[in-house]
Amino acid sequence: MTSSSGVGLIVRADAPGATIERNVHGQFVEHLGSGVYGGIWVGEDSAIPNTHGIRADVVEALRRLHVPVIRWPGGCFADRYHWRDGVGRRAARPRRVNASWGGVIETNAFGSHEFMEFAELIGAAPYVNGNVGSGSPQEMAEWVEYLTSDADSELADLRRRNGRHMPWAVPYLGFGNEPWGCGGSMRAAAYADEFRRFATFVGTGHGSTICRIAAGADGEDPGWTETLMADAGPQLDALTVHHYTMPTGSSKRKGAATGFGEAEWISTMSRCLRIDEVIRNHAAILDRFDPAKRVALIVDEWGTWYDPDPGTDPAALRQQNGIRDALVAAVTLNVLHGHADRVRMANIAQLVNVLQAMILTDGDRIVLTPTYHVFEMYRPFQGATSVPVELEAPGYALGDRTVPSLHASAAIDGRGRRILGVVNLLPFTTAEVSARIAGARVTRATGRVLTADEMDAVNDVERPDAVSPLPLGTALRMRPGGVDLELPPKSVAVVQIE
Ligand code: AHR
Repeated sequence: MTSSSGVGLIVRADAPGATIERNVHGQFVEHLGSGVYGGIWVGEDSAIPNTHGIRADVVEALRRLHVPVIRWPGGCFADRYHWRDGVGRRAARPRRVNASWGGVIETNAFGSHEFMEFAELIGAAPYVNGNVGSGSPQEMAEWVEYLTSDADSELADLRRRNGRHMPWAVPYLGFGNEPWGCGGSMRAAAYADEFRRFATFVGTGHGSTICRIAAGADGEDPGWTETLMADAGPQLDALTVHHYTMPTGSSKRKGAATGFGEAEWISTMSRCLRIDEVIRNHAAILDRFDPAKRVALIVDEWGTWYDPDPGTDPAALRQQNGIRDALVAAVTLNVLHGHADRVRMANIAQLVNVLQAMILTDGDRIVLTPTYHVFEMYRPFQGATSVPVELEAPGYALGDRTVPSLHASAAIDGRGRRILGVVNLLPFTTAEVSARIAGARVTRATGRVLTADEMDAVNDVERPDAVSPLPLGTALRMRPGGVDLELPPKSVAVVQIE
């Protein structure tokens, strides 16, 4: 049985803010579990339809998301990856142990050429994450030359001989990953020195501009950002922060993807919402060192992280994905939109089959997750102008936790349409939302909603469309200066208002 609660919100269309960079809707893929092998790469001889080994169904689904940017090859894997292993004749590539993720054999069948082709096929800009932890400045510099140089040099020639005549653009280059942990167990000052050393040799001289991305903090460590900005601020263009949502807050027993109760529902929402404070803390440090906002903050790993699905390899980080994940995705995108002035890229972890995935594959079948649907519904925010939302929502409390019952972000797109993304966090209560659009007349409003009956409803191969967006229909009503919305329990809606 559901009850209802009334909420008023104002879309401050009269107070436009920063542009929501398209890259804030970015993705991340790592050599981990079946994130690459099986998820993206099936090989040219596979019975699964493919383009040069890259599965066609996954590409087709991702093209609909308008993925702006994709980070590869890790994650922890990046600091053990040696790019030469992944170029040249596939049959001759070395087989290595993937020591980051379960010691499985890495065939290197998916390397630089395959990744760049994949990025091109889905229409995304490549964000290549280099190896600082176990690599050298020379190795990283040579990788960049191999990928981006048009010179008459040995490395550019090698690329040509390997089948790619034109250089690629690599607009984003990461310098290691989580250097405080799997990327080398470094202290902040030591990494700052490493970054300076690598940046001296890497990413210049081949005619294209590369955004140099320093590996940042665990979200809860602003001290890392402080040291990095003090010691290497002028050398870097962006620095990163990671924030994962684990329902129990413990990385040992994180909580299950399905079969949980309301206490884990609200703790998931609460831990996801913490990303707002994490960004605020790091942005405040950046504001001190860089008031002109030259340096971007990039949230290059975020999302839910549960215990692995029963019966799966724990190192593969495979987890089901449900309506709860959809809400986490929408709340996080709302938060990111609100920080558009500083956060210029974010990459959800991870694209296929790993953690909070867009797509789960099962042999030759694919399932689009509820998280996928949120990214598709939120597409109109890409490149739009962020506007503030004033929201007076009652709190949703359970036990010792309280979170807002409603969460929203808004923007104005290039055609002047107002876009409102709104989430009802209450699992059993309908929200009656009365939205006023400041400074605008309302002549037309359309929208869709994503919801489900159960808190742990998922899509799977038996019921791939169980959680899918539907038109808001009569739940969306226009009135002078605004719209009224009836939002079912545990739902995400996106409304376009003209
Ligand atoms: O996304 C999985 C892992 O989480 C990444 O490899 C690492 O950067 C983070 O700890």
